[in-house]
Amino acid sequence: MNIHGTPYRTVWFADDLVRIIDQRLLPWHFQILDLPTTTHVAHAILDMAVRGAGCIGATAAYGMALAAREAASSPDPTAALIAKADELNCRPTAVNLAWALKRQLDHLLPLPPSTWPENALTEANRIADEDAAACAAIGQHGLSLIQDIASRKPSGQPVNILTHCNAGWLAFVDHGSATAPIYAAHAAGIPVHVWVDETRPRNQGARLTAWELAHQNIPHTVIADNTGGHLMQHGLVDLVITGADRVTRSGDVANKIGTYLKALAARDNNLPFYVALPTSTFDWTLTDGLAQIPIEARSSDELIWMDGPDASGTLHHIRLIPETSPTANHAFDVTPSRLITGLITEHGILPANEKAIATLQPPAA
Ligand code: MRU
Repeated sequence: MNIHGTPYRTVWFADDLVRIIDQRLLPWHFQILDLPTTTHVAHAILDMAVRGAGCIGATAAYGMALAAREAASSPDPTAALIAKADELNCRPTAVNLAWALKRQLDHLLPLPPSTWPENALTEANRIADEDAAACAAIGQHGLSLIQDIASRKPSGQPVNILTHCNAGWLAFVDHGSATAPIYAAHAAGIPVHVWVDETRPRNQGARLTAWELAHQNIPHTVIADNTGGHLMQHGLVDLVITGADRVTRSGDVANKIGTYLKALAARDNNLPFYVALPTSTFDWTLTDGLAQIPIEARSSDELIWMDGPDASGTLHHIRLIPETSPTANHAFDVTPSRLITGLITEHGILPANEKAIATLQPPAA
């Protein structure tokens, strides 16, 4: 995506460093962060300097290029590489992270350690390129849904799309998942308007999705998280598209906390609820999302504190909740497949059921 006229990916490798856009500072500052060691990469993932399923997968893949160099010179390179992959596997819900690390280990371990650094970097570039290409293809497939709705609306009226959290290009290497069809529709001249859920507690919608859409000149409105149902009841939403962090082989979807409530509201209002994901987000080992997908519990500090500038631009960190009140921060929820109209993947749009999803499963190695 272009920022101030310069094309960026969210993560890349240069001068022996992993480089990322530091998402903790957006939308107030656009800053590149250099990560020189595996430990720096793990910390960036854990602290959400990088975030979003595809983006943390690609970042970890690049982290393995540093890990390969560090491990290759250790007394037991294999044990060291496995330990570094474990260190990078530091968020539990988005399966792209574990998927990218396993892919790197499967690729590297049969090779001589002296060749690991070069091979790890090549594989990381491949993972990043595939992620960007998958998201671009998701955009083209999802475009047909938006075109179809637009063709049934009075000419010139925008298609109103509600999205949750940030499943935009910042959550991947480029393009995004849920936003890719929106970018494709905008590029095709179809009028669109996006309802952006703020997405408490970290506000990825208000801070990141809104920033992305503004940079692409896409009409949008940030709403409080509880507004979606009301908008749906009043005919102000045509379509919901969210991203996903892990999808079972039966089509249950783990995504940012609050997604399930949007799916319930969409069902009650007879509205289409689509989930966009690259196939790297499927967990082929799981069938029951509610019982089997691990849900990350994050620090309550995300709930208790809020960051933002005052009128003069000075950033503040302020407390929102009384010191005496206990808090809990469940970061994801699971939307059962029965509430999902369809899955938008790089291979096309399919129903969220085991038979359809099985057609996408890669052959066993
Ligand atoms: O906790 P985050 O910000 O890493 O959350 C993951 C997400 O980006 C969202 O759940 C998103 O909708 C999934 S699409 C990658």
